[in-house]
Amino acid sequence: MIKLYRKYHTDKDRTLIGLFKKVNELYSPKRILYPGCYVHITPSLVFSDVTYIDSFRNTYKFYESLEVKDFIEKNKGYQSETNLKFYQQDYNEDIPEDIESYDIVISQYGGFVGQAVKKYLKSNGFLICNNSHGDASMASIDPDYKLEAVYNRVSDDNYSVSTKNLDEYLVPKKNIKPSKDSISKSMRGITYTKSPSGYIFKKNSS
Ligand SMILES: C[S@@+](CC[C@H](N)C(=O)[O-])C[C@H]1O[C@@H](n2cnc3c(N)ncnc32)[C@H](O)[C@@H]1O
Repeated sequence: MIKLYRKYHTDKDRTLIGLFKKVNELYSPKRILYPGCYVHITPSLVFSDVTYIDSFRNTYKFYESLEVKDFIEKNKGYQSETNLKFYQQDYNEDIPEDIESYDIVISQYGGFVGQAVKKYLKSNGFLICNNSHGDASMASIDPDYKLEAVYNRVSDDNYSVSTKNLDEYLVPKKNIKPSKDSISKSMRGITYTKSPSGYIFKKNSS
């Protein structure tokens, strides 16, 4: 089972461990929600309380496997007990968790996660996303989110986060006015004049 994580993440040098460590350092989040996670369990190596959601068939077997639990136990960077939940379902459907109870939502190559689970993110909580499927573009035109920072990969273990000159980001290359409709139809992010590895949006307080 853990070989799936090795195949898609460790072997490709794309675990994102450096990003999650940096986010932990900066924001000290308690509860993390990761919809569209597939077998990307790196967050559980850094954060003790992570809820994963994915609809891909049989993914639950990965999360139930003793081998995976053992891998997390041996490699985690915190002392406390691991609290890992996995929901095998569409992330657009409700999960049995409290509204506004997560400090961080992770969105990586999984569609419009920041829209689908927004209600579970606390006010002033953060959406950590890239723009491969347009989730960052969607957040950029959503009044509920504000760009807080951008992140860049130096190496898998080393990510930088910057809050400087944020007005230079999310500027479309072409002179277009993006809409929710056009972004959801294309399922691709808008091309911007600057392309960081990803974006950190803060959910505005309601
Ligand atoms: C390309 S994979 C990315 C996996 C992981 N985030 C990563 O960075 O390696 C996208 C995952 O999102 C899941 N996904 C896409 N839409 C979904 C939905 N509506 N509900 C639940 N899972 C979804 C797919 O099943 C798939 O496992």
